[in-house]
Amino acid sequence: MPSAGAPAKINWLLHVLGKRDDGYHEVLSLMQKVDLSDKLSFEPLSADDIILESDVPVPKNENLVYRAALLLKKETGCKSGARIKLQKLIPMAAGLGGGSSDAACTLSSLNEVWGLKLTPAGLKELGAKLGSDVPFFLDGSGAIATGRGEIIEYAPLGGPFFILIVKPSFGVSTPWAYSLLKDYTGLTKARENIKIFIRALREGDFSALTGLGRVNDLEPGVLRACPEIERIKTALREKGAVFSSMSGSGSAVFGLFRTSGEAEKAGRELCLSFWCRVVRSVV
Ligand code: C5P
Repeated sequence: MPSAGAPAKINWLLHVLGKRDDGYHEVLSLMQKVDLSDKLSFEPLSADDIILESDVPVPKNENLVYRAALLLKKETGCKSGARIKLQKLIPMAAGLGGGSSDAACTLSSLNEVWGLKLTPAGLKELGAKLGSDVPFFLDGSGAIATGRGEIIEYAPLGGPFFILIVKPSFGVSTPWAYSLLKDYTGLTKARENIKIFIRALREGDFSALTGLGRVNDLEPGVLRACPEIERIKTALREKGAVFSSMSGSGSAVFGLFRTSGEAEKAGRELCLSFWCRVVRSVV
């Protein structure tokens, strides 16, 4: 039975440039896959049915895995079925893209299992119908995302980087985080920041990151409403992170460390109060 890992992501940087006519926001983001993954397996069924078995109770119609399988069937006219098992290891409502990654994994795996022969571009087009972040997970590890997040340009970022992800007990809903936005970043500034960020990562010279100021435009609103996230950011810096930021719309925060040992040590201290995982960027 084909099985696959669906990795989480962090947003090194997430600038929001303005609101669009379709209700979404125009973004410029630098995204990175990390080696914390949900696990999925796909068993083909001859009956025209999608059976989803998951260790978390998400209503079937809201589950992106189920919706991805149905969309693939609808768009290709495929009459096969599948039993999909999903084991969630990426925390939900955390800004780590778990649901989107599961959906991307489902599209590419069922494309193989059912022999549909959709191209990578075709899969990305379907992915964008499921969620803004889904196409990113169908591509390489580091990427610049534009549009509402669905236009992906692969960008090698160096590494591997040692990252500690910390999540408070509560989650944050993405529409809510966007609704708290008070101002946007101009395109010139956003492009400049992304250039500085990519250079710092490629050269491993993290000193440039501290002078950047705000790099996640969703942070101020969410931090105002959830001060615990600010405390986690500060704690990560105090424990040696050279950079810390909320990932996407939160509630998870990540810290970048110089060594895995430093990340592990900070994790041992912070895991007394929060969900914590030391991860590496996927190279
Ligand atoms: O695309 P996705 O379904 O993940 O988006 C969830 C919600 O997040 C959208 O309905 C919208 O409220 C908000 N969003 C946004 N601009 C984006 C991405 C998401 O306003 N670029």
